[in-house]
Amino acid sequence: MATRFPRIAPRGFLNHGARRAPVNLTTCRLFTPRPRPIHSSRSTPHKTRIPTPRTARVAPVGLLVGGGLVASVLAFFQAHDTGNLPEASITPSADDRDPTIPRFRLSDVRKHGPDSSEPWVIFEDKVYNITDWVEAHPGGDVILRAAGGCIEPYWNIFTIHKAPHVREILDQYIIGFVDVADLGPDGRPVAEAIEDPFENDPVRDPRLITHTIKPRNAEPPNEELDRTFYTPNELFYIRHHMWVPVVEEAKADDFALTVELPDGEVKRYTIGELKAKFPTHKVTAVLQCSGNRRNDMTRHAGKTNGLQWGVGAISNAEWEGVRLSDLLADAGLDTTPAQPDTSSLHAQFTGAEAYSASIPLPKALSPTGDVLLAFKMNGETLPRDHGFPLRAIVPGNVAARSVKWLNKIVISDEEATSQWQRRDYKSFGPNEGPNPDWDKAPSIQEMPVTSAITGVWVGDCIKKVPWMGGDKADNPSSKRRTIDMAATPQKVGFTSKPKTIPCPETTPDNEPIALQGYAYSGGGRKITRVDVSLDGGATWDQAELVDDCSNPATPCHCNRSWGWTRWRYTGTLPVLSLPVSTTTILPPVLQKVGQDCEDGFGRSVSLLGQLPKKQCTTLIVKATDESYNTQPESHKGIYNVRGNLATAWHRVKICPECTRGNGKPGGVTWNTGETYGCGFRKQAEEVREGMKAAASGKGGK
Ligand code: MTE
Repeated sequence: MATRFPRIAPRGFLNHGARRAPVNLTTCRLFTPRPRPIHSSRSTPHKTRIPTPRTARVAPVGLLVGGGLVASVLAFFQAHDTGNLPEASITPSADDRDPTIPRFRLSDVRKHGPDSSEPWVIFEDKVYNITDWVEAHPGGDVILRAAGGCIEPYWNIFTIHKAPHVREILDQYIIGFVDVADLGPDGRPVAEAIEDPFENDPVRDPRLITHTIKPRNAEPPNEELDRTFYTPNELFYIRHHMWVPVVEEAKADDFALTVELPDGEVKRYTIGELKAKFPTHKVTAVLQCSGNRRNDMTRHAGKTNGLQWGVGAISNAEWEGVRLSDLLADAGLDTTPAQPDTSSLHAQFTGAEAYSASIPLPKALSPTGDVLLAFKMNGETLPRDHGFPLRAIVPGNVAARSVKWLNKIVISDEEATSQWQRRDYKSFGPNEGPNPDWDKAPSIQEMPVTSAITGVWVGDCIKKVPWMGGDKADNPSSKRRTIDMAATPQKVGFTSKPKTIPCPETTPDNEPIALQGYAYSGGGRKITRVDVSLDGGATWDQAELVDDCSNPATPCHCNRSWGWTRWRYTGTLPVLSLPVSTTTILPPVLQKVGQDCEDGFGRSVSLLGQLPKKQCTTLIVKATDESYNTQPESHKGIYNVRGNLATAWHRVKICPECTRGNGKPGGVTWNTGETYGCGFRKQAEEVREGMKAAASGKGGK
C-alpha cells in the first residue's frame, strides 16, 4: 500500500537521526565490486515495480549554474507533490524518525541504478529520487554513477557540494528514509555498503608528491621533473577530478568514440577503426595545469583556492595518435581552415567518467595545430592515469582541454557547459576578489610564458651536477658547459662542505652555484631567452638553452614549439655576511634570552635579536618567448582567487649559515629560506608509506 509523503518536509526532518539498530553487515552491501560499464546511459529504461513520487519540481540547474542561491533556498520549501508513492516497509519501534515518511530497504534502492528510468541515491539515512535532477545537475550525469547506492563518496569529491544551498537542492528530492534494518550504529548505511569509486584506480609511483589521494593529484619531485626531456610516464604529473575509468586492455580497440556534428548527425568510431583508417602522427607536447605554481602565488600574493601545486604541474611527452582534423573530415565536417560557418564553433570533448571541456574549432582544424587523439605516450600504450585508451592532446593550450578517457566529441556553437570550462579554468583581476564574474572572463586556452628553477647546487655540491662533467666542475667561472645528456640520477643540494675553522664572517668569494630548470610558452611560441639572477634581480645573465630537439635520442615532432625548453646555468654567488648559529656555538648558559656574549670568535652577540643579521640571496629565473612575451615580476599584480596562471618570476631564496658544534669544525651551509615544496615532501613520505603498505598487501593504494 502506498504511503503518503508530507507535502512540506517537517522542519526537524533533516536533522533527525535514526536510533541505533541491530545491523547485519553482510546484508547491507549495496554494490558488488564492479567496474561499472563506462558508457553508463539511461537509454535503456527499465521498468520498475516501485512507483516513485514524481514531483512538479523547479529544475535546479539555474540555481547552481546561474548562481540563484536564494531561489534554491526557496526551492527547498517547495511542495513534494503527491502521486503514487513507493511501498513503505513497516517502521520498527527502534526508529524514532518521522513515522509518516516512507522507509526503503537497500534492496529497493539498488533497483534504481544508473540504467533505471528513476535513479535513486542515498545520502546519510535518506533516499532521494534524482530523476528530475540528472538533466539539471551541473556536473552532468556523473551523478548517475552513484544511482542505486550511496552518493556520499561521489558527493564529497566536489567542494561545491559542501555549500549549504547545494544540500538544499538535493533535499528537494527526498522520498523517504533508509530502513532502520539497513543502518549501522551511526545511523548511516554501514561502511561496507558504500562503494569506493576509487577502488580500481591504478597504483602510482611512490616518488610522486601527492596533493590529494582520492582523486589522485600528484606532481613529480623537482629532481625528477625535468631530469630528462621527456618526463617518464610513471612520473608525469597527474590531475584527476574523479576516479580512473576501467577499460579492459584486451577490449581497448573496441572502445567507442562518438562524434556529433552541428546538424545533429552522430558518427561512431572504435579505436580499432581510428587506427586502421587514419595515419598516425607523433607530437612532442607539454601538458601544464593552469594551477601550476599556484603555491608560489599563495605565498607571495595571498590565499588562492585550489590544489597548492609546486613547480611540477607540468610535464613533457611524446604523444602518438590520429589527427582530430582527419577524424572530423571523415565524419563529414567541412574542415577547410577558417570556414566562416565553422570558425565560431567549438569542439567539445567528454571523458568516460563525465569530465568535459572544449576548444575553439579553428584550433582543432588548424593544419599546424597538431591536435591529436592519442593512444600512445612516450612510445608506450597510454597509461590509465593519462587517459587509456584514448585522450585528446591539445598542444599549447591549458591541459584542462586535453580530455582523458575520451568517448564523445560534439561540434557545437557553444563551449562545453561543464564547470571545468565555464568556471574553474579562468583568471581575474587582482581586485576582483573571491566572487568574480565567472561568465565575463574567457576560458583559459593558450598558456602564457613561464619558467621555474628545479635544481640548485652550491659549493662543493656542484660536483654532483650531472650535466657539469668531471673536471669542469673545478672551474666555476666558465659558464658555458658541455652538457652531458646521459644524466646520472642527481641530487638537488644546498650544502657546501665545511671549509673554514673557525667560521668566517662572510661566505667565500667565488662560491659556485649551478641551476637548472624548464621554460615553456603556450600557443607553440618558442622560448628564445632565459634570464637568471643570483642576487634578487640586481644583476642578470642568460642561461644556456638545452637543444633537446637536436638530440637524436629525443627528436621533437611538432609544427610549432609545443614542448618545453630545459635550461642550465652556472655562476658565482654574491658574498654574504654569515651569522653564527647560536644553538650550536653558545654554551647553554649563554643561550638565555637577553644575555650578551661573545660568539667564540670575538664577535659580540645578543640573543635579543642583536646577532649579525641573517643575509640571504634570491635566485630568480624568467623566460621570454619568440613574441617577446615575458613573465611578470610579481604575483601580486596577477593575483586571482583561483590561483591560475601563476607565472611570475620564479624565486628561490637561499641563506648561508655557519655551523660548528659537538667539537666539529665550522662550515657554511646553504638552505632554502623557504621550502618551495611547501610541506609536500612530508605528505609525499606519508603517501609513500601507504604505497609500500599497499604493495605488501597491508593497506590501500
Ligand atoms: N580529463 C578527464 N577525463 N578528467 C580529468 O579530470 N583533468 C584535466 C585534463 N583532462 C581531466 C581530464 C586537467 S585539469 C589536466 S591539468 C590534465 O587532464 C592532466 O592530465 P594528466 O593527468 O595526464 O597530467
